[in-house]
Amino acid sequence: MNQHWNIIEQYASVLKQVHLKELFIEDASRVHAFSHTLPFAFVDYSRQRVNAQLLEELYVFAKEIGIKEQFVSMMQGAKFNSTEQRSVLHTALRAPHDADIHVDGKNIIPDIHRVLHSIRQFSEGIRDGSLCGYTGKAFTDIVNIGIGGSDLGPNMVCNALRFYAKRDISMHFVSNVDPTHLAETLRMCSPETTLFIISSKTFTTEETMANAHAAKAWFMNNGGSSWELHSCAVSANITNTSAFGIAEDRVFGFWDWVGGRYSVWSAIGLSIAISIGYEQFEQFLAGAHEMDMHMANEDIEHSIPIVLGLIDVLNVMCYDIHSHVIIPYDEYLRMFPAFLQQMIMESNGKSVSKDGHELAHHTSPIIWGQPGTDAQHSFFQLLHQGTEHVNTEFIVCAQSLNPNGDMHERLLANCAAQSAALMHGKTQNEVLQDLSTTTLSDTEKRALIPHKLFSGNRPSTTIVLKELTPFTLGWLMALYEHRTFVQGIVWEICSFDQWGVELGKSMASALLPAVKDPECIPDNQDCSTELLISTLHMFRNA
Ligand code: F6P
Repeated sequence: MNQHWNIIEQYASVLKQVHLKELFIEDASRVHAFSHTLPFAFVDYSRQRVNAQLLEELYVFAKEIGIKEQFVSMMQGAKFNSTEQRSVLHTALRAPHDADIHVDGKNIIPDIHRVLHSIRQFSEGIRDGSLCGYTGKAFTDIVNIGIGGSDLGPNMVCNALRFYAKRDISMHFVSNVDPTHLAETLRMCSPETTLFIISSKTFTTEETMANAHAAKAWFMNNGGSSWELHSCAVSANITNTSAFGIAEDRVFGFWDWVGGRYSVWSAIGLSIAISIGYEQFEQFLAGAHEMDMHMANEDIEHSIPIVLGLIDVLNVMCYDIHSHVIIPYDEYLRMFPAFLQQMIMESNGKSVSKDGHELAHHTSPIIWGQPGTDAQHSFFQLLHQGTEHVNTEFIVCAQSLNPNGDMHERLLANCAAQSAALMHGKTQNEVLQDLSTTTLSDTEKRALIPHKLFSGNRPSTTIVLKELTPFTLGWLMALYEHRTFVQGIVWEICSFDQWGVELGKSMASALLPAVKDPECIPDNQDCSTELLISTLHMFRNA
């Protein structure tokens, strides 16, 4: 780590002793210094353990390590994925058609816009029924088969933007190799009116290929014909898509400089364009581009992703908070925590530096979450009174897309109350005051006090969107992408590879013969794996 981090640690160690409530007493207007307001969004990090001095030092640090310069060089095509020698250019996917971004000497923008044009034509054809199934009926069900970034992004976005969707087309997402996922999905579909999108950059991913073959077999065995009318693919592997019987003009390409978890802006977003229409899809890209420009052009102290990314790092490294919970107070964002789990943990769940040295510091916190208010009635007990301190992030939309009486106001009140409660807590005097109105004896009251105390002092950030639209969702997602980038730069890791998923994959392939036939259990297996496999056999054959 750059030397300046030592200074940050010193400031943070002093601040660690101060209750967050005190920071608000010291400076009653701190929210104005520690928040950003845009016409369509508000970001409040005043409930994080920072003060002006500490932030100043963080900005000096950010300048010294060149966070902004590194981001701009990534946007211009530098090989930021150093272990695979690849550029990292999801930002180019939402750049305007007159941008000029080069990979290996070639401007990639014309290719991107060529694919966007074919997404437009195809999605419009599906939506207006001119592209239809083998009986001439319009498609009513779209089944996206893919996993990881080829599922989580489009799945989350289609759910989040359901309000804007064409209602006579149902979107389905099949990812799990558990046959139940496909079976339950196909129970809702008819071969005549179902279109399959096989989404896989490599077109080799085991789960996706197993589901794709099973889906094709279901289609053919249930009266379907003309598979080529009912299938399309999003992939960089034309050889495999052709071998699978997908017409070449129905393969939407993408490139090795798009990482899976950053690919929703590419043709992986085809299902989104079909669901909400191409013009809304463009708005989604425009929202992300707005954030790209913000990150590239704003001064560090006004850059929302840089400030939030630095605070994320501070929580991990200086305050020992290794858990980050995302609570969207918006039903449409129910899947947002799951999407962020891949984006953040697959990017920054690393323990060696870019140059291969074991790190002496922590990296990504555990990302998890669930929508409020459901989460309040589930794990908020731990957030308020548990021994584990968690960095809590609230996301809420000021306007509801489905207003109904005062329900949305109730939701907003819950969101505002929870972040305040996490910070303030509840003192003994306050508990006693509450208990004074009860008929409990003094002994009973005394016994209850420790259970009803809230230490408070638990940090949170609140992000408010004026309204959930394709534009604001794109902006929000890009904000998290760039925060993740900032974390990776500070931690000196390669945020754009994912070697950690490979070992389990190869071991599963090696164990498949044994799962099928116990005679094939390899000799060198540990006894736990061996007994697990033979017990599975015993139960399956009982
Ligand atoms: O799980 C690893 C991973 O490579 C992810 O990064 C990626 O999103 C996913 O698998 C799917 O890969 P593909 O699109 O090639 O099927």
